[in-house]
Amino acid sequence: MLVSAKEMLDKAKAGHYAVGQFNINNLEWTKSILLTAQEMNSPVILGVSEGAGKYMTGFKTVAAMVKAMIEELNITVPVALHLDHGTYEGCYKCIEAGFSSIMFDGSHYPIEENVAKTKELVAVCKEKGMSLEAEVGSIGGEEDGVVGMGECADPNECKMIADLGVDMLAAGIGNIHGVYPANWQGLSFETLAAVQELTGTMPLVLHGGTGIPDDMIKKAIDLGVSKINVNTECQLAFAAATRKYIEEGKDQQGKGFDPRKLLAPGAEAIKATVREKIELFGSANKA
Ligand code: G3H
Ligand code: ZN
Repeated sequence: MLVSAKEMLDKAKAGHYAVGQFNINNLEWTKSILLTAQEMNSPVILGVSEGAGKYMTGFKTVAAMVKAMIEELNITVPVALHLDHGTYEGCYKCIEAGFSSIMFDGSHYPIEENVAKTKELVAVCKEKGMSLEAEVGSIGGEEDGVVGMGECADPNECKMIADLGVDMLAAGIGNIHGVYPANWQGLSFETLAAVQELTGTMPLVLHGGTGIPDDMIKKAIDLGVSKINVNTECQLAFAAATRKYIEEGKDQQGKGFDPRKLLAPGAEAIKATVREKIELFGSANKA
């Protein structure tokens, strides 16, 4: 079922668990995530960065693939198809393409401009029955060309954006995209608690989910995080499993070079990663 992310995230916030957003890059990625969510009876969010959308030919191709896959795989758990770190233009492209959810990442604009653009998109999304994520502060590191300085969000600015009527809010709390450096200072729970205090029932989003220690994830959920984004970890798992298959020479045995065989260990590795995250986030059996 392709749905907006609003209801699943409101339920997660009230039930003190988080829904995973797993980014997709191709058919194998999408299928592995959908099948695992179904197997675990968990709601799920498929994240699509603008770069990944382009790689998969365009947002219309992505939306058509996801909708058809939900039907043909008999996926009955709630699935949101969500633009990740969208530009203003990208948001409109995804609205047109039939996504059910978008993130407008206006964190690099001055706050007044972030407010104005977010406000406009709130109205459009409400009309279309889509959910909208906004960002305040920035997520450190780089993801598909989106670079952030990693400064912690100002809780008052978070409240300003939350009050516009967005459905979920990503606040920078020292989180970083990609693999965390050895000298990482950890999440700023002080910032998270202050944001939670001012934004009340608003589902909060934790980006950069790869490599955050489990105890920090649990504490973040306790402090109001209801959506956690994971991308790099699936990529690392896919790459390691594919490398192992090739290094063991399995691509040279029988018809191991057949792409359906070559890509299978990576697809299984994504499933294992998603399974582990769904357990950790507590969204199993919450569909
Ligand atoms: O927007 C997507 C995420 O924040 C993923 O971050 O690649 O560090 O898991 P990650
Ligand atoms: Zn992110």
